[in-house]
Amino acid sequence: MKTIPTITVFCTAALWILYVDAFTHHCRPMYSINGNNARRISGPISQAAATSSNQIQDEGDSASLLGKNQSSPSEFRSLSQPTMIRGERYYNATNNSSLPSPIEIANRLNIQPTKEASSQEWQRAWKTHKRLIPLLHSTDRCKPPDSSLNIACMWWKALSGNDKSSPVYDDGLAYDLLPSVWRKLVSSKVRRFYPRLHHGNVELRTAYLDKCVRDIVQEVRVNSNTTKIRLVCMGAGYDTRGIKLLERGWVDTVVELDLPNVVDAKKRLFQRLQKRRPLLRGMELPTLIPSDFNDMADVKVKLEALLKDDDTAAAQEEWFTIFVFEGVMIYLDEGIPSALLNVSSTVLRDKKGKGALCLADRLENVPGGDPEAGILELESNGWKIIDWSPKPGLARHMLSARLLLHEG
Ligand SMILES: C[S@@+](CC[C@H](N)C(=O)[O-])C[C@H]1O[C@@H](n2cnc3c(N)ncnc32)[C@H](O)[C@@H]1O
Repeated sequence: MKTIPTITVFCTAALWILYVDAFTHHCRPMYSINGNNARRISGPISQAAATSSNQIQDEGDSASLLGKNQSSPSEFRSLSQPTMIRGERYYNATNNSSLPSPIEIANRLNIQPTKEASSQEWQRAWKTHKRLIPLLHSTDRCKPPDSSLNIACMWWKALSGNDKSSPVYDDGLAYDLLPSVWRKLVSSKVRRFYPRLHHGNVELRTAYLDKCVRDIVQEVRVNSNTTKIRLVCMGAGYDTRGIKLLERGWVDTVVELDLPNVVDAKKRLFQRLQKRRPLLRGMELPTLIPSDFNDMADVKVKLEALLKDDDTAAAQEEWFTIFVFEGVMIYLDEGIPSALLNVSSTVLRDKKGKGALCLADRLENVPGGDPEAGILELESNGWKIIDWSPKPGLARHMLSARLLLHEG
C-alpha cells in the first residue's frame, strides 16, 4: 500500500517539473554570433528580432547543444566548440534576414504560434526537462536510448498528437509509444495545461512534413491509381509518422532508418504499441533498418537493397519513393548531409525510379533562408525544389523537392 502515496508524490513532482519545464521551455535563447564568438541576447523574443538574428528555435538548435554540452550555463552560452554540432559554423549575424518569423510559419501551417519567454527561463527549462527524462523512463521496460534528443521529441510529439485542434492530431498514437503511468502527464486531459513551448515548435515541423507528404501522395494518385508509394524516413527516431500514414492509407509501405540501438528499441516500442492498439497487429508496420549515416557506404548499400527489385521484370508494380528527413542532419559529420541527399537521388535514378523529398532539417552550404542557396544545394545533389519554407533555428530548412531526372 505504501507504493500508492509514493507514486502520487512522484507523479505530482514530475508533473510540476514538467510544467515548469514546458512553461519555460518555449523561451529560446537568441544568439548573435560573429565568426566563432557566440553572444547570448537576453530578453523577450520579438518578431522583428526573430527575423533578423540567430534565434534558437527548436530542439535541434538548443537542446542538442545542451545535450552534448550539458554541464553548466556558461558552456551553454558558447556555440563555438567545433565538436558540438555541425550547423554551428553557419552562424553569422548577417545571414538570417531571409528567415521568416515563427509566427509567420505557424500561420502558414495553421498552427497555434508558440509562446514567448525569456532566455533564462529557457535555460532552466531545458535543465529540468533533461533531468526528468530518466525519471519518466525509470519504469519503462522498452528502455529506449536517448539518441540525439529523440526521447524529448517523442514526448513533444505526444503532446501535440493529443491536441484535437492541431493538424498533427494523431488520436493518441505518439502517446501510445510512451511508458505506462508516466505518459499520463501528457494525456489529452492535461495537455492543455502546458503552454505552447518546445512541443509547439516541433509541431511546425510535423505539420509541414505531413502536409508535404500528403501533397505528393495526391499528386501521384492523380497521375496513376496503381502506383504504390514507399515512405523512407531517414533518422526516424521514435517518430510515429510511418504508422500514422500507413493507418491513413496514404502510403503503401514505410521504411525507417536510424542507428542500430535506436532501431532495436523501436522494435520493442512497436511490440508495446501493438498491445495497446490491437488494430495494428493485422497491419504491416514500418520496416526498421539500422544504419549509421556517417558511414555513407553502408547507407548506399541499405538504400540499394530497398529499391533492388524496382526496375526488374519481377516488379509487379511501379513504386514512387518519398524520402523524409526530420531533424537528423544537424547531428551528422560534415559533408554527410549533402552526401545523403546525393545518395538518395542517385539510388533512385539508378533504378529508374520516381521519387520526392520532404525535409525539415539543416542543409549544408545554405546559411540562411535564401531560396537561391537552397535550390543550388538541392540541384547539385539531384533534387528540384518545389516548395521552400525556411524557419528560424538550426533545423531551419523546410522543403519539398522532386527527383531531377537528369543531373546538372
Ligand atoms: C532529434 S532526433 C529526430 C528523430 C525524428 N526524426 C523526430 O523528428 O522525432 C535525431 C535522430 O537522428 C538519429 N541520428 C543521429 N545520428 C545518426 C547517425 N549517425 N546515423 C543515423 N541516425 C542518426 C538519432 O538516433 C535520432 O533518432
